[in-house]
Amino acid sequence: MKLRRLSLALASACAFSVSSFAGEVEVLHWWTSGGEAKSAAELKKLIQAKGHTWKDFAVAGGGGDNAMTVLKTRVVSGNPPTAAQVKGPAIQEWGSEGVLANLDDVAKAEKWDSLLPPVVANVMKYQGHYVAVPVNVHRVNWMWVNPEVFKKAGAKVPTTWAEFDEAATKIEKAGMIAIAHGGQPWQDNTVFESVALGVGGADYYNKAFVKLDPKAIDSPTTIKAFDTLRMVRKHMDKDMPGRDWNLATKMVINGQAGMQFMGDWAKGEFSAAGKVAGKDYLCLAAPGTDKAFTFNIDSFIVFAQKNKDQKTTNDFASAVLSDGFQEVFNQNKGSVPVRLGHDMSKFDDCAKKSAADFVSTNKAGGLVPSFAHQMAQPSAVQGAVQDVVTQFMNSSMSSKDAVAKLIAAAAKK
Ligand code: GAL
Repeated sequence: MKLRRLSLALASACAFSVSSFAGEVEVLHWWTSGGEAKSAAELKKLIQAKGHTWKDFAVAGGGGDNAMTVLKTRVVSGNPPTAAQVKGPAIQEWGSEGVLANLDDVAKAEKWDSLLPPVVANVMKYQGHYVAVPVNVHRVNWMWVNPEVFKKAGAKVPTTWAEFDEAATKIEKAGMIAIAHGGQPWQDNTVFESVALGVGGADYYNKAFVKLDPKAIDSPTTIKAFDTLRMVRKHMDKDMPGRDWNLATKMVINGQAGMQFMGDWAKGEFSAAGKVAGKDYLCLAAPGTDKAFTFNIDSFIVFAQKNKDQKTTNDFASAVLSDGFQEVFNQNKGSVPVRLGHDMSKFDDCAKKSAADFVSTNKAGGLVPSFAHQMAQPSAVQGAVQDVVTQFMNSSMSSKDAVAKLIAAAAKK
């Protein structure tokens, strides 16, 4: 009895000390480009406004491969950050390690179940409990265009891959680079994903790259997707190896190159450079993909802390989903708010189109998860698929051999 009273007293003392405690929020992310850093700075401001300290844990490297390696080391050494940028099926993988905190209280209080589209909410839960908070919705199947380059080259903005080949050839004849690309595995995979979607459509994409159905992978459509990737590859410049994605975006911004295939975080770079959508640059769906939407939802998993400070973790999660943060963060980041029914009136035309297409493709069936951005496949398969695509891009591998390697990669599930 005495013992019980003592533990009750202790529990209430702890509860008191936690609620009056200004915590430290350490967030692992890979947002280091101009537009990304501006967006991350908004989160820092908000956390500080709540009385907490912000400890930045940025690991450079687009697509997050470096960040994931660093995260594993930190968690294994028993010292996880408050939160880390982890997305898609990897949330489940981390959940099964038993190292995550539970956000159910804040989720219930703030009605996340009705605030978020079910397709998003489900991914944020492990065994029915919220363990992650979503930040945004990025669309990956974009093509960024510098209209001045097209004008100078007398080229027409393409809507099919055959038109793309023609336009790219004209741009090169006029002495400019057709596609700005960075030869890094995740960027190669980003291009391949849009090509496969454009060539095969959303249904094929789902079967081959989400369900990993061997019949869909081993098909003339996948051969055609690799043939098309070979054609696209031919229009990339010789200096592409290792180039960061934001430097490639800069080439489109300053008129050195005509196009880039990249998710709408590229728009964050155009915005940071003061460029206006529809005038200085165009955002168009990659050829053949205008009825589809490859989504990439950034989210943060939260870790159980040694000091049991759940309040700071809850404050962080609540800040991420707050209306004000969603508005300003996403305008800087190029994405759209993940909250349902957010007022889009202050967003640019590309974002308005993205928000509308997210809803319409969800209804019509063209909404598919981005495999290049960790939304569709377990991490082992994602890595193996990425390797095949990069090998293909950097060798004379035939499309047939690439398909055989893809089947082997899919079998890693
Ligand atoms: C994506 C991530 C985006 C983005 C990009 C480039 O995987 O979801 O938020 O910034 O990488 O770093």
